[in-house]
Amino acid sequence: MELSAIILEIQDHIAILTINREKSLNALNKQVMSELDFLFSERLVNENLFGVIIQGAGEKAFAAGADITEFMALDVKSGSELSAKGHRIFNQIEAFHIPVIAAVHGYALGAGCELAMACHMRIATNEAMFGQPEVKLGLIPGYAGTQRLSMLVGKSKAMEYTLTADMIDANEAHRVGLVNHVVETGMHISKAKEIIAKISKKGPKAISNSIKTINAYFDKNEDGAEMEVRIFGESLNSSECKEGVSAFLEKRKPNFR
Ligand code: COA
Repeated sequence: MELSAIILEIQDHIAILTINREKSLNALNKQVMSELDFLFSERLVNENLFGVIIQGAGEKAFAAGADITEFMALDVKSGSELSAKGHRIFNQIEAFHIPVIAAVHGYALGAGCELAMACHMRIATNEAMFGQPEVKLGLIPGYAGTQRLSMLVGKSKAMEYTLTADMIDANEAHRVGLVNHVVETGMHISKAKEIIAKISKKGPKAISNSIKTINAYFDKNEDGAEMEVRIFGESLNSSECKEGVSAFLEKRKPNFR
């Protein structure tokens, strides 16, 4: 697939995806969603990567929502299909085997906030703003915002933010656990790279298994505790674990890759 709405750059084993619709504040239209789908189901899967960073182009927005101009043509069936497709694509991001970090500057609203929440971590600049303003349009969040916001900030705050449609700033988002770190403007990508660099020194299978097992806690179809017991046992038999434990005992750095 030829990318036209997302810029992909790979530097030092880190993929940086830039949503490139600055004039529409990087609104997630059908094209952006299809490209995210392609990137996380095909293009990035077999790359030798340590992590993925998602950002928005320009100075104003990470992404200011789904593209509202596409809404008038929707009916009950196509609206539900759009939402289901959004769930599927964002679930792929959440399940990706290496860390995916949202680097948020400016607005992360509606589907933009939902995309950031589907990532494993969120770094915000002090000019980031988050919100689920869909009720202003007579809608509800449709790309799993009701679910992931509740998961990340708890029911009480998820209710307040969604029902009032109020935006919150980066410090409030940090206080309630929506973002991992708040940094000075311009430092969000370097902070995300720093976290990925730290993770890249650890056992890659242990990293992907940790992502899978933490996700299982929030998945109604999985038994996360059972998965942890099983994967812990399996890990002990892996060459990666043998290297990690030997390195510790031999007082040297492990060589996982
Ligand atoms: N979908 C489509 N276009 C959008 C958009 C969206 N979600 N968000 C912003 N845009 C467009 C605007 O229509 C405008 O286009 P124009 O220049 O052709 O008129 C352009 O992006 C710039 O936005 P503008 O509203 O002029 O910027 P602002 O600084 O005054 O306000 C926001 C910024 C984010 C507060 C405002 O754009 C907004 O409320 N956007 C919609 C947010 C939303 O409801 N998201 C959930 C969608 S389900």
